[in-house]
Amino acid sequence: MKQELLKKLEDKSFVVGVIGLGYVGLPLNLCFAEKGFRSVGFDIDKSKVDSLNAGKSYIKHIPSERIQKAKESGFFSSTTDYSKIKECDAILIAVPTPLNKNREPEMEFVVSSCEAVSKQMRRGQLIVLESTTYPGTTDELMVPILEKSGLKLDKDFYAAFSPEREDPNNKDYRTETIPKVVGATSPDGLAVADKLYQQIVVKTVPVSSTRVAEATKLLENIFRSVNIALVNELKMAFMKMGIDIWEVIEGAKTKPFGFMPFYPGPGLGGHCIPIDPFYLTWKAREYGVATRFIELAGEINTSMPVFVVQKVMDALNEVGKPLKKSRILMLGLAYKANVDDDRESPSYKLMKDLEEKGATVEYNDPYVPVIKMTREHPQFAGRRSSAISGKHDLILISTAHDEYRKIDFKSFNIPIVDSRNLIQEKFPLLFKA
Ligand SMILES: NC(=O)c1ccc[n+]([C@@H]2O[C@H](COP(=O)([O-])OP(=O)(O)OC[C@H]3O[C@@H](n4cnc5c(N)ncnc54)[C@H](O)[C@@H]3O)[C@@H](O)[C@H]2O)c1
Repeated sequence: MKQELLKKLEDKSFVVGVIGLGYVGLPLNLCFAEKGFRSVGFDIDKSKVDSLNAGKSYIKHIPSERIQKAKESGFFSSTTDYSKIKECDAILIAVPTPLNKNREPEMEFVVSSCEAVSKQMRRGQLIVLESTTYPGTTDELMVPILEKSGLKLDKDFYAAFSPEREDPNNKDYRTETIPKVVGATSPDGLAVADKLYQQIVVKTVPVSSTRVAEATKLLENIFRSVNIALVNELKMAFMKMGIDIWEVIEGAKTKPFGFMPFYPGPGLGGHCIPIDPFYLTWKAREYGVATRFIELAGEINTSMPVFVVQKVMDALNEVGKPLKKSRILMLGLAYKANVDDDRESPSYKLMKDLEEKGATVEYNDPYVPVIKMTREHPQFAGRRSSAISGKHDLILISTAHDEYRKIDFKSFNIPIVDSRNLIQEKFPLLFKA
């Protein structure tokens, strides 16, 4: 089985399937097609499949021309039809791994996609999980579902885990230029999975097991969460001392070794950092281990919107206004600058908290013209991005989109609360949060 798959990779007859055509899966699917491998994308969301088949992108930083070019090459296709799984030599699963209401791993997307694969798979395939998850998912959860097919691990099929390190809109790194960690359940499985990823990335990093690969991804994200919590805490302490944390970070980052800058903000956002650390916390409980750094970082980071709301109240107070009945314009819904991804964005928490205290909140975001319906905040669905003007009682900057850098905020003559250090000029009605 190993030799057969390696040979197919050599002669490029190897067919790749990618399940879940989101921020992670779509670039993967495109990369394989661009390297001359037939690459079939699967998604349960028909509107995404229809859009790709019409040559249209639904992700801001992936241009439609790239989709059209890949389609024209004949190597790239998208479908909702799982029976095509049989045509693939490798199936890469990149479906969501969120948390449920009790902050426990929500594995329904991984389970349902593995079940769908299990019903269609054949002998001689490699199945790779790419979704971020707790150590043990591949061998404890994925493999038993796949074996329901009657096929046996490492005899009839290989299983591997290879975490994604996608950073949407990062100008310096894209899928192909980011080294990729790969772990498998056997040396033969690892040889095939490693060779597969060598086709599209600059460097692969083989590790000894799927658990090490799963834990590697969690370490990377926990490292970010803890360090962001640290600067958030320092921001609050330094602010009381009249010291600007951003200036301090600029100073510290000139140290050429042993320091790495992290930046404070109104709270964590995105699909990874607010969620993934709790996958480890959950699993560690099974082993009777407490993950105190993760919990503390989570506590500090989730309290940041409360801090920002207090700053908004203080700023309004300076001009003799209460928060209740005031009109606030929030700049930025996306969780980070210059992207259209508003998942887990702290802006929603800010909107909710401010409105619960009686304020009216409008928002502006050039990349989110209208708020989509979601499970987390259905009350905001349908709201549209407002124009930026000084007609509000206060402007709150929650995302540092480049578009906002050109605005003359001082001329509005209303309190401006800046939680992203977007404004460099100093003026009396500017409040850093
Ligand atoms: N977005 C990032 O920058 C990023 C970075 C690293 C890792 N990750 C991880 O990668 C995984 C995927 O994240 P994403 O951001 O690409 O999510 P996403 O929501 O953008 O995309 C997931 C896609 O999977 C589809 N899907 C769900 N269930 C399916 C099923 N049973 N069969 C087929 N398709 C199905 C959805 O319709 C959606 O299109 C997550 O585990 C995430 O934590 C994301």
